[in-house]
Amino acid sequence: MDLRHHEDFGPGTGSLPPRAWYAASDAAALSLNGTWRFRLSATADAEDESFAAPGHDRATWGEITVPGHWVLQGHGSPHYTNQLYPFPVDPPRVPTDNPTGDHLRTFDLPSDWPASGTTVLRFDGVESCARVWLNGTELGDFKGSRLPHEFDVGALLRPQGNVLAVRVHQWSSGSYLEDQDQWWLPGIFRDVTLLHRPEDCVGAHFVHASYDHRAGTGTLRVDADTQGRADAQGRTDAQGRVTVAELGIDVATGEAVTVPVEPWTAETPRLYDGVLATAGERIPLRIGFRTVAVEDGLIKVNGRPLLFRGVNRHEFHPRTGRALDLATMRADILLMKRHNINAVRTSHYPPHPAFLDLCDELGLWVIDECDLETHGFQAIRWRGNPVDDDRWTPALLDRAARMVERDKNHPSVVIWSLGNECGTGRGLTAMAEWIRARDDSRLLHYEGDRSCADTGMYARMYADHAEVERIGRGEDEGPERRRQLPFVLCEYGHAMGNGPGGLSEYQRLFETYERIQGGFIWEWIDHGLAHPSYEYAYGGDFGEELHDGNFVCDGLVLPDRTPSPGLVEYKKVIEPVRIEGGGHEGAVQITNLYDFATLDHLSFTWSYERDGVRVADGTLAVPATGPGERAEVKLPSAPRCDPGGETQWTVRAVLAWDTAWAERGHVVAWAQFTDESGVSPAVVGGTAPVRDEGRIALGPALFDARGTLLALDGLEIEDLRLDVWRAPTDNDNGMPWRPEPSPAARWRALGLDRMQHRLDAVELAEDALVVRTRVAPAASDLGLRVAYRWQSDGSRLLLALEVEPEGEWSVPLPRVGIRFGLPGASGPVRWFGGGPGEAYPDTRAASMTGVWESDVDAMQTPYVRPQENGARPGLRWAEIGGLRIDTGDRPWFTARRWTTEQLDAARHRTDLTPGDTVWVNLDIDQQGIGTGSCGPGALPEHQLHARPERLEVTFSTAVTRGNGAARH
Ligand code: GAL
Repeated sequence: MDLRHHEDFGPGTGSLPPRAWYAASDAAALSLNGTWRFRLSATADAEDESFAAPGHDRATWGEITVPGHWVLQGHGSPHYTNQLYPFPVDPPRVPTDNPTGDHLRTFDLPSDWPASGTTVLRFDGVESCARVWLNGTELGDFKGSRLPHEFDVGALLRPQGNVLAVRVHQWSSGSYLEDQDQWWLPGIFRDVTLLHRPEDCVGAHFVHASYDHRAGTGTLRVDADTQGRADAQGRTDAQGRVTVAELGIDVATGEAVTVPVEPWTAETPRLYDGVLATAGERIPLRIGFRTVAVEDGLIKVNGRPLLFRGVNRHEFHPRTGRALDLATMRADILLMKRHNINAVRTSHYPPHPAFLDLCDELGLWVIDECDLETHGFQAIRWRGNPVDDDRWTPALLDRAARMVERDKNHPSVVIWSLGNECGTGRGLTAMAEWIRARDDSRLLHYEGDRSCADTGMYARMYADHAEVERIGRGEDEGPERRRQLPFVLCEYGHAMGNGPGGLSEYQRLFETYERIQGGFIWEWIDHGLAHPSYEYAYGGDFGEELHDGNFVCDGLVLPDRTPSPGLVEYKKVIEPVRIEGGGHEGAVQITNLYDFATLDHLSFTWSYERDGVRVADGTLAVPATGPGERAEVKLPSAPRCDPGGETQWTVRAVLAWDTAWAERGHVVAWAQFTDESGVSPAVVGGTAPVRDEGRIALGPALFDARGTLLALDGLEIEDLRLDVWRAPTDNDNGMPWRPEPSPAARWRALGLDRMQHRLDAVELAEDALVVRTRVAPAASDLGLRVAYRWQSDGSRLLLALEVEPEGEWSVPLPRVGIRFGLPGASGPVRWFGGGPGEAYPDTRAASMTGVWESDVDAMQTPYVRPQENGARPGLRWAEIGGLRIDTGDRPWFTARRWTTEQLDAARHRTDLTPGDTVWVNLDIDQQGIGTGSCGPGALPEHQLHARPERLEVTFSTAVTRGNGAARH
């Protein structure tokens, strides 16, 4: 049968060959963004093509904003799947039910639009297939959603009343190539622009700017297809010229010139402004000199190996989907730079081209990935996989060419990626060959082919620590060629919900083994869509037939781009300066972990704190320290302060001056070192418990006859008891496709969410009240013997808790500690311990010891799908709702206005309604977080196995003002 344009194998018809994208030239341009007329049909051919003709009656049409997705503008709804195609797999055919958006825009040319030359119409991104008419004449059609397409429209344009018509099908053969893990969002989602092309304008051009690190010189050659008018012999005289005033360069296109330059790196993004000029046009160039190579089995730029501190970035905005404005792109990069991130993989398609301009300018290494994923074929054992079927190869090559041609002039792009999760096949090899032939100045990446036949590097996703270590040691098996290649984790640290855990341990491996050149966290942002009832919606919230729930919310920033604790942790883990104690005579060692930069842009400060409160501070003089070098610096002698306190040094590396991405004083790296560990709180005792009318009094405390604490100095306390349950995190819930049960599944199967507390004894001793319980789930013989030993000195109340496991526990516990309610508690919360944000056993690198102030609401991390959050480690004391807590045992401290059970039951933020009672947990320990939602779970050393535990806490109501608290 004849396949229609949206269902054939090809990439489309009628568009111009791809060329480099640039933001501006002196040629005229007209943006066609804005309000368009719009009509949605249920099928591809519900309406005929007469709408494209000028004069068509559009009275019944609605409106739509371009760039935009119609499903986010009230027409139809979004759909989320991870791997599965949301339609029957029968390539290249797509369903008859195929939402189709007709878009219309009328426009006049500006009065000064030049009459000579020609004009092209550029679409920067349309999902998934477009057919285009201007003034009733069909220009062509195209697929390749996140790639540009241009049409020559010069002959069709009129000064006034132009009618541009675009028919967009949600589903096309191209959809089979675009099965990335994200929302399916049809529409014209990137800019539409008219570009005048003067006579003798610049055609396609390729900026080659390399750097010779031995000579300190850069070599520039700009190849250009200048469109000069040919003479009778076909020769053109409109040769272009390339000038770079700052470097005194003035050469013809095609001519190479070598001059001393400062190189471009992501750490030192030195760009030179140049101009490419022909008789008809001047294009500004932003030139960065750098050379990418694999040498000695390592990825090197300018002769030095790189360490990627990277992140995978999808384009996403909670209201506009993949239609991003420049301010949002810039905000992403600023946030990344401020969090020590130095690299982006543009998962899994080329981003808006302006994003790469910003990467050049602000400095990020980029893996530019082609718009290609066929993951859904895995579900049918890769039968019919387009990347292994020659009929699709022209479409694959078209995608490769459109990416490379568009983005090749960016110094930030150091690696081309063929795509993501496509299995293996001849089409990928064809793409690789084409790319290598066109541009051999960059590396090739593709993770899906373990043979690495087409690539210059070995990449994996979610390999666990042990495997990464084997690869680092060169003890990995596999093809000999692969064993010689540098290694990168193109995805790791799955940032879904609370986590990811275990990043410090990965970083240690990256810094230990030179073959391991870092990794890219999955992923940058939660794709939660703004929703009137749920606040943020995820898969299933739009009634999708097949979906993957909140697997689409797995970012280091929440949907509104608030940094999650995972980003704060990542910043600390990857800090480019390591500050360590334990040097000679208490000196501090400062290691420069940059690949290129010195430490000149940083100032170093110290402060000295007693019980978390600063008593003195100053600056540290750090000698010149080149990349990879270490300096040793002496701290001053410890400032004098009252004895008996806990004292510590805090050393910070901060920006010495304003940069393009953060202000002077911005903290890049820090460390703390304990000086004196302080004296533990005094032991409390001496008061005898007294039984009276069904109550037991002990100093200021009142208990019921069963030994349950009711009040302290009249301050009501509710249901204080042992707690082992936490609302499972996404990482606790694990990967649904794995056969072995996740930690959370094992917890629920055992019944840790429904523990019964049996009272065994209430003993009134001479100076203590002892309550004994056994805590266990129904149907199991496993249990925890618990003894609560209460003592008082008349004003304070001491609890010594002992926990003794019974039976063969093979499942780690979620947590172990106490929890209690404070009815009616309000006001600020102050504490001395880890802060300001949340931390767990394997996500606590960024937790800083200090005195912090916050309130219960601000202590919550509002993950899109509610789950355990908000713990602060290392508690020394806390003041909350009139209660003072002192402890030498440094438990984990959590406070919230709902119970764990309510948190566990909630599906969206809006399911959580604050109650009057604040629930406090003090945990002796918590199970680590890991990254088990996609990747390894908590490492053995961060697992909480049942074992005898002890906790001592003193309660009082004499609240001492915590001075010097830092507000969070
Ligand atoms: C990877 C994939 C990503 C994403 C991630 C899990 O396999 O490349 O696109 O699906 O897993 O969130």
